[in-house]
Amino acid sequence: MAKFDFGGTVEEVITEDEFSLQQARQVLEGDTVAVLGYGVQGPGQALNLRDNGIRVIVGQRENSPSWDRAVQDGFVPGETLFGIEEAATRGTVVQYLLSDAGQVAAWPKVKKCLSPGDMLYFSHGFAIVYRDQTGIVPPADVDVVLVAPKGSGRTVRKNFLEGSGINSSYAIHQDYSGKAAERTMALGIAIGSGYLFPTTFEKEVYSDLTGERGVLMGCLAGVMEAQYKLLRKNGHSPSEAFNETVEELTQSLIRLVAENGMDWMFANCSTTAQRGALDWAPKFRDAVAPVFEDLYEQVVSGRETRRVLDANSSADYREKLDRELRVIHDSEMWRAGATVRSLRPENRR
Ligand SMILES: NC(=O)c1ccc[n+]([C@@H]2O[C@H](COP(=O)([O-])OP(=O)(O)OC[C@H]3O[C@@H](n4cnc5c(N)ncnc54)[C@H](OP(=O)(O)O)[C@@H]3O)[C@@H](O)[C@H]2O)c1
Repeated sequence: MAKFDFGGTVEEVITEDEFSLQQARQVLEGDTVAVLGYGVQGPGQALNLRDNGIRVIVGQRENSPSWDRAVQDGFVPGETLFGIEEAATRGTVVQYLLSDAGQVAAWPKVKKCLSPGDMLYFSHGFAIVYRDQTGIVPPADVDVVLVAPKGSGRTVRKNFLEGSGINSSYAIHQDYSGKAAERTMALGIAIGSGYLFPTTFEKEVYSDLTGERGVLMGCLAGVMEAQYKLLRKNGHSPSEAFNETVEELTQSLIRLVAENGMDWMFANCSTTAQRGALDWAPKFRDAVAPVFEDLYEQVVSGRETRRVLDANSSADYREKLDRELRVIHDSEMWRAGATVRSLRPENRR
């Protein structure tokens, strides 16, 4: 572990300097990692592990586009690609990367496939923390751990291929083998994490559900829509409204924030922009603070979990979600966005 000062608080984290890929390979030498689920996170982690020299198999229900994608990605039916139960039985590390609702549905079968000493691995605290609702209570004779990449499975893979990484949190819920910590770190490094930071299952799921409903996705989509609509209502063209709301953010300003922080981005805009941003940031902060309070309370109380499980447990959950996403896709704002993107020089060439 290495200690770093995060804005005045010293935390212990792990990078490849503290735990090398070579070490990770040694720790996982006798293991078969079964990645259950080939949705978003499954492919990212499975492919990175495979490229890093770890023995990986995939468990995915057949007759599904996700199965076909696993085949396209080089997993071979009967050799490295199996049904969920078969893979869970073969794996000594079972990475449970079905959707959170899918994990609930498949648990009675998957539970029977675990052998003493196996490791059950999650990328979210959801199943365990809300066990009253999920019914997921692992047997006492397995390790139960979490490595949660703080990014989409798509970027887990993309960043890996570009020589970068996504930071992940990790936690140990149950250490049966006495080696849960080093096995977890090995997996965290081998899936291509940037750095690993410790958490608990509770802290991971509370912060994650808050983050995606908040700044990362829900709040972001909400404030973008509010500003776009305001500009349109006042006679601005779709092109102007979209550029001032989304394109300038994604193509310019947020990149500067990623590189050097918010203060640096402010400092590299006009003094007019700085004055306005400094004055208006506290107003937006205070306006949304009560919504965030409400959000966190709904997460901790488990009400958000009930909603997720109800919505995503039906057989036609994908069709229903697709219909809702289609509404966004078909909205004027995002149709305008498609045109703006098509006009980027690299897309016109
Ligand atoms: N999305 C991310 O980038 C991300 C980031 C960090 C952590 N995580 C966590 O990683 C885990 C996986 O998330 P994900 O987003 O990758 O999930 P996802 O894309 O929604 O996963 C779908 C996978 O679950 C399978 N599945 C769904 N319902 C099923 C059922 N009833 N029986 C059997 N299989 C079922 C799907 O099979 P079909 O395709 O056949 O339906 C597919 O393989 C979750 O715990 C999530 O919270 C995700």
